[in-house]
Amino acid sequence: RCLLHPVKDLLGRRILVTAGPTREPLDPVRFLSNRSSGKMGYAVARMARYRGASVVLVSGPTWLEPPAGVEVVRVETAEQMQAACHQWLPEVDAVVMAAAVADFRAVSPSEAKIKREADGAPGGGDAAGGRRLLLELVAVPDILASLAQRRRPGQVLVGFAAETGRLEDLAREKLRRKGVDLIVANDVTRPGAGFESETNAAILLGADGTRTEVPLVAKESLADRILDWVAARLAGPAR
Ligand code: CTP
Ligand code: CA
Repeated sequence: RCLLHPVKDLLGRRILVTAGPTREPLDPVRFLSNRSSGKMGYAVARMARYRGASVVLVSGPTWLEPPAGVEVVRVETAEQMQAACHQWLPEVDAVVMAAAVADFRAVSPSEAKIKREADGAPGGGDAAGGRRLLLELVAVPDILASLAQRRRPGQVLVGFAAETGRLEDLAREKLRRKGVDLIVANDVTRPGAGFESETNAAILLGADGTRTEVPLVAKESLADRILDWVAARLAGPAR
């Protein structure tokens, strides 16, 4: 499939793709994260490469094989992902933000391992009586919105919307709020369409009013549909 990809419509283009989860440390051995496998973003990176683009893949922790010919920048936290994205933004024609950024981080991660029992005192007996621990969390910055604020004319920005209901309404809200060109709206509760799956289904909502439904397909196929939209937009007149 790779070298035989018929379309080289991204030749000469440079694309930044993000993928995977981020990890926000709670202490030296624990973190806050999510169920993202990275498959969707890796599929976008691989297909963009097949179509001729130079690809930078900013990746949170995953076990996936990096796609051949793609420059991979490994990050762990949302802060690191944001720094890497802003570093690459001036170099690229398009950004596809497929990463599942952990929305919250600990206000002050513990420098020492948090102990199960307080001060060596035995933990409580039954399930309800154990020691309680309150974690104070704070929202991390919206990386995509911050990229949209710094972009130059002509750069194409694509975000995802992972929703568990009211898919189209909430996705349209994100399209506006984040100031991007395209939102890939994803109902993560739909069987075969969410985290850790090989397939995905989505509605592509463009800021230009376009709406494309993609049925349940391999993540590579959805990646190709997203890149069709990006390639058409890059080929069109500069805005
Ligand atoms: N995103 C981001 N930075 C964040 C959170 C999300 O860049 N701190 C990006 C994601 O990579 C995705 C898009 O924003 O492309 C939407 O992510 P999503 O989790 O659906 O939306 P949120 O804005 O985080 O809102 P919520 O999780 O509350 O629905
Ligand atoms: Ca989120």
